[in-house]
Amino acid sequence: MAREASGGTTPAYFNIDPEAALAELGGPVTTEGFAEMARACAAGRDDLVGRGLGEDGQKRLRLFSTWEITRYLIPVAPAYFRRVLKAHPDLPQGRSESAGGAKWFTLDEVLRLRAHFAAEGSRTKEYKPYRPPGQPAKVVGVANFKGGVGKSSTCAHLAMSAALDGYRVLVIDLDSQGSLTSIFGGRVADEWQTVFPMIAGHHARHLRATNQGRIDRGEAPLPLDETLTAALDVDPRDLVQKTHWPNIDLIGAQLNLYWAEFQIPVWRMRAQGWKLWDALSDALEEGGLLEEYDIVFLDTPPALGYLTINGLAAADILLVPLGASFLEFDSTGRFLDMLHATFSSIEEGENMAARALGREETAFEWDAVRAVLTRYDGAQQGEMAALMQSYLGKTLSPHRQDFTALIGQAGEQVSGIYEADYRDFNRETYARGRETFDQTYAAFKRLLIGTWHRDVAAAAQRADAPA
Ligand SMILES: Nc1ncnc2c1ncn2[C@@H]1O[C@H](COP(=O)(O)OP(=O)(O)OP(=O)(O)O)[C@@H](O)[C@H]1O
Ligand SMILES: [Mg+2]
Repeated sequence: MAREASGGTTPAYFNIDPEAALAELGGPVTTEGFAEMARACAAGRDDLVGRGLGEDGQKRLRLFSTWEITRYLIPVAPAYFRRVLKAHPDLPQGRSESAGGAKWFTLDEVLRLRAHFAAEGSRTKEYKPYRPPGQPAKVVGVANFKGGVGKSSTCAHLAMSAALDGYRVLVIDLDSQGSLTSIFGGRVADEWQTVFPMIAGHHARHLRATNQGRIDRGEAPLPLDETLTAALDVDPRDLVQKTHWPNIDLIGAQLNLYWAEFQIPVWRMRAQGWKLWDALSDALEEGGLLEEYDIVFLDTPPALGYLTINGLAAADILLVPLGASFLEFDSTGRFLDMLHATFSSIEEGENMAARALGREETAFEWDAVRAVLTRYDGAQQGEMAALMQSYLGKTLSPHRQDFTALIGQAGEQVSGIYEADYRDFNRETYARGRETFDQTYAAFKRLLIGTWHRDVAAAAQRADAPA
């Protein structure tokens, strides 16, 4: 290694010997080279996944202690909690690792206990989260075309906090990278277990309806190929898989889902009247999924492709995660600009025809859109965040989700702070790390409740209005 007279080391990019560089280079890479690399990754991945799995090959959710339940999940004093359990031997009693040790419960048991407290406990306490009856689930899209900003982490953590809070949650992975699917231990063989058949089925139903008109006019019907015909028979409920969380279900993704990005424009080209952006929201509604769940979370890929457009159009609440850095702020601004361009061009295209036919015009609307600061480092990014806040105002959620090493550490075996066992950490570190995600959830839940409440008020107003 070259040394300067001062004794310092010269930077590593000086004095590279071409012979040495060649010697370590290896041969050129062919197409087969990628297959080899992919095989190596797959083998390593299987190894890692294997280490995080239980004996039966399934991910398992950890247990929850009395301390954690009474502090975070059911707002009662520990002593009262123990008294109630004692008085009701039919309720789950938990298990302890040592005689007289702390009692631990599965989440399913926690949910049963919560239901008991909600039925029997004090009326003034919130044992069950706000959920207006008769209203459909809220769909929450998490999107930003910038990669690595925390979309999947935010989506997974919000889904888990909502589940801990007692909501019935469906998470849908629209990213063919399948991060969210891995987090929830999903198994997806091919595109037929992703949202693909929901979108294909939507297109197929459109073709069928159009064909009816063509036949009536004496025109030849457009053919439905094998894929489209098969998609007509897929019930969205059959795409839903259980996860290791009792109240989180999943529609997963894997690489083949990317095919949708090529297929959707081809379908649209053939049938210009097909509202491709409505496919996912219509399928969710018609498939009854909005009745079955309280909240549906959509994780999207780092691109503004057709799947993301579907996710954005289906969303009632849109969250845009970004870091407090110039590049992320800049690129998020361009993302918002692209959203404007994309949706206004859809509206214009639709409304030209609608106006000519005297039909109702298309106007997209979201209940709420919030940018959410993620991976925030208060020591370094305070000024940047304040500047962003001053420009974005209400659009930027006031809570900044702190950078926490607990996320990275959670790693392959458990995903995120809510799956981690607090005994693996210093309790203070755990409490701080958890606090920032609890706050992210609290900020989100305010939006959720506000928007549901607005719907309830609007429904009441409609009911009161004279016909
Ligand atoms: N609050 C946080 N503290 C520390 N690390 C975080 C935090 N949030 C996310 N990360 C880490 O940042 C990285 C990117 O996060 P994530 O995968 O959620 O981003 P993404 O936007 O979904 O990425 P992609 O665009 O590839 O889908 C991950 O390694 C994740 O563990
Ligand atoms: Mg992601």
